[in-house]
Amino acid sequence: MNDTLTIAVSKGRIFKDVLPLLARAGIELRDDPETSRKLILDTNQEHVKIVLIRTTDVPTYVQYGAADLGVAGKDVLLEHGGAGLYEPLDMEIARCRLMVAGRPGASAAGNRLRIATKYVESARRYYAAQGKQVEIIKLYGSMELAPLVGLADLIVDLVDTGNTLKANGLVPMDHIADISSRLIVNKASMKMKHAQVQHFIEQMTAAVVAARG
Ligand code: ATP
Ligand code: PRP
Repeated sequence: MNDTLTIAVSKGRIFKDVLPLLARAGIELRDDPETSRKLILDTNQEHVKIVLIRTTDVPTYVQYGAADLGVAGKDVLLEHGGAGLYEPLDMEIARCRLMVAGRPGASAAGNRLRIATKYVESARRYYAAQGKQVEIIKLYGSMELAPLVGLADLIVDLVDTGNTLKANGLVPMDHIADISSRLIVNKASMKMKHAQVQHFIEQMTAAVVAARG
């Protein structure tokens, strides 16, 4: 068994928010991800490596043990389903809300609403729980465009400040879930590298508490 801890993080806002938490735990990157094209980044701790992958791929890498740990948005975890993973810590970063949104009054339109979203599983569960028959259209981004061009009546998307909705003449409607990033752990790594993984979770927990100020 190798004794390196591999941590999967996505570039973008999660990476930016995770760095200070790692720093509080004494983990500093040796490579600069802004300038380096490397996908496996060394840190000042010989046995800790960071792998940079797409947000939606983080749970998959951790599920299959290609990374021992990862940081992923709850939105992504809800879609993935959580197989093969533990979710021991809310990192309290990249906070937003998963919401239904649309043009004012759009939820009254027709009898079978069309919902455009990247979050097909969450949307399906949400409308099933409401007992509403809807048609879900899978998109990969720019959901806000869909109601403007007649592709859908409503969208299910992440909302933080609400600026993106507002800029496109849309309004937030129903709240589906509060979202933040979670530390996830491969179930086998939790067993096989228990002391190391446990130590890392404890360090991250302390960093999250300290970041609350
Ligand atoms: P990719 O660029 O790889 O397609 P992405 O655009 O979803 O992925 P980010 O925008 O960096 O990547 O978002 C990563 C995570 O941050 C999301 O999964 C979500 O949990 C959270 N997030 C997304 N948008 C916001 C936002 N506006 N405010 C706060 N957190 C957000
Ligand atoms: C996210 C999300 C919304 C926006 C909401 O997009 O998909 O479009 O943020 O944030 P707001 O309520 O503060 O405007 P992001 O900025 O990540 O762009 P992307 O999905 O194209 O990466």
